[in-house]
This record gives sequence, C-alpha cells and structure tokens, in this order.
Amino acid sequence: MPILSILTSGGDAPGMNAVIRAAAKTASAHGWRVIGVEDGYNGLIEGCFVDLTPAFIDDIDREGGTVLRSARSAKFRTVEGRAQAARHLTGVDCLLVIGGNGSLTGAKIFGKEHGIRVVGVPASIDNDIACTSMSIGVDTALNTIVEACDRICDTARSHRRAFLVEVMGRECGYLAMASAIACSADAVLFREQGKSEEQLITELRGVIRHSYSATRMKKRVLIIKAEGVEVSTASLAAKLEETMQEDSGGATLRYTILGHVVRGGRPSSFDRIIGSRLGYAAFHAALNGLDQIMLGWRSEDPVSQPSHVDRNIQYVPLEHMLSETQRMLDGTHPVTRARIDMITKVQGVLPL
Ligand code: F6P
Repeated sequence: MPILSILTSGGDAPGMNAVIRAAAKTASAHGWRVIGVEDGYNGLIEGCFVDLTPAFIDDIDREGGTVLRSARSAKFRTVEGRAQAARHLTGVDCLLVIGGNGSLTGAKIFGKEHGIRVVGVPASIDNDIACTSMSIGVDTALNTIVEACDRICDTARSHRRAFLVEVMGRECGYLAMASAIACSADAVLFREQGKSEEQLITELRGVIRHSYSATRMKKRVLIIKAEGVEVSTASLAAKLEETMQEDSGGATLRYTILGHVVRGGRPSSFDRIIGSRLGYAAFHAALNGLDQIMLGWRSEDPVSQPSHVDRNIQYVPLEHMLSETQRMLDGTHPVTRARIDMITKVQGVLPL
C-alpha cells in the first residue's frame, strides 16, 4: 500500500487543517495509507507519527492552527538532522509539506539529499510566497485584522483619537497594505517602502495635521503599520505623541500591536476552500509521481504548469518558486513592485 506523509511546518496558518483533511481523505479513497508527522520537521527527526484515520481528521477543517502541530526546526537545518529525519521515512512514497518559505526550502533540500519525493502547499499568513496569488491563512488573517480595527475604530471615534495598529508580516507588508484598504486606514507603513524614521514621522505628522484641521476634523485616525518596519511601534508612537498637541489641537494617540491574534482563529470560508482544493490537488500530484513542486493558487507565473485536476491550481518547481520568493522579499519581483506602486498611488487618497 503506498504511503503519503503529511507535515505542517513554520508559523501555523488557518486553513492548514483543511489541506491535511482533503489530502488525507483523497489519498485514503485511492487506497493509500496516510501518516501525519507531529511537530513539523522536529517530529520527523524524532519519529513522531500519527495515523491520519477518518476519525482523526473528522471536522478538523473548522479549527484554526494545525492539528499536527508545527515548529521552526533549527535541527532540520543541519545535515545530521535531515539524515536522522530521512531514516523515519523508509517506505514513504511522498512527503507533503504545508508551510512557508523556510519550510519549503527545507523540503527542497531534504528531498534532493535523500531521494524523497516532496510536494509543497503554500501556507503563511504573510502572503510572502511567490508563484501563488494567495497562501493559506492570508484571508483569515486579513478578516481578523479588519475585525480588530473595526473595534479599535469604535473606541477611537468615541475619543476622536488616533491609533497606530501593528499587524504581522515579518518581511512582507501585504497584510498591512491590504488591511489598510479594507479598514479605510488613513496611512499605511510597510518595510518595502524603505523609509527612514524621519520620513515616516514627517509623513504621519502631515496626516495627523490634515485629519484634525478645522475644516476636516476626522472622527478617528487609523494608521496601519507592518511588523517588518524597522522603527518599533512603541518608539514611533512616542515620537508622534510629542507633537500631538501641536498637530491635532489636543487629540491623543494610542497604539496596539495585534501580534499572534492575527494568526489564530477559525479559518474563513475562502481558506477552507483553497485549503481543501490545494490538499486534493496535492494528493493528485503525489499520485502522478510529481516531485520537487509546490502548488500555486491562481498563479500567473510563466513557469507554472496547470494541475489538470483544478483549473485554479498550478504546479511550480520548488527551485523556481524559492528564487522568485527571494525576489519578492528583496523587492525586485514584479509582484512586489506592483503592490508598492498600487499602494503608493492610493496613499495620497487614503488620508483625505
Ligand atoms: O510567518 C508568519 C509569522 O506570523 C510572521 O508574520 C511573524 O513575524 C512570525 O510568523 C512570528 O513567528 P513566531 O510565532 O515564531 O514568533
């Protein structure tokens, strides 16, 4: 009986469970045995496995996080760690890795080193993976940010306050940019802009002055800041507070760091749907003997190939996806350029 092994790695993302469930159900229906690896690559090194029986995967797609648990494994980055992990995969026909950039890099190296077939599914709330228009978890994270900012705006309006809200997204400002639009923010700050602290303060002071001017008198001011911006949120807020009296005529400023709140919660319907569809297609990739690939959702990447089982899903070589992801993170990829261009254009409109 062929065997599919599934693991989740790196930061958890809502929707990972939907991938596990769909891949496991489809594999079982084709007569495969499905084994889950607990605790990401750490569990692979230690040999922590669980049979993904129908009872185990029942209803898991409704839950946030990952039922297999996850980890950022330092040991798997070593040759010895990977060799130890490979010993536990004897007889396994394909390893399905659900995770982000680091996890899929690990999958590529591991697969090549030990001749183990690997298939990847992109999961990261940051939307920082190339060759897929969306990664699993992004939509839920955005909805969580919108809900949090709506709440913050209720209290902000009651005091005519300005709020600086930090959202997750280590090296990628996508969550900040997209949520700024969805929350009608007055300004958005993200790492890719490459602005100095002085520039940020000058711009934000301009937004605050305009917002509280006698002719405008906004009910609230919302500034969304990506976690990756080098200046800390606390220090930015402290600097802005120093000039609030002068710039706003007495309004106050508060800040909130949403942190891991953004990563938790039940997956949105969209994350359940793309999770299930990617899980289904991932098993078919394994069934068809594909190796060293990731599945993309509505990718426009020219190297990606249609999946045949789902017209919205493409197969992309891991190697290519990882180099494109690097370009996304260093700001040279057309997708990053397009995101920055779009937000730069609307930035003049946001504070009006
Ligand atoms: O990669 C997803 C992410 O949530 C980032 O947005 C964030 O910077 C990071 O993970 C936090 O990682 P950890 O949970 O290990 O602190």
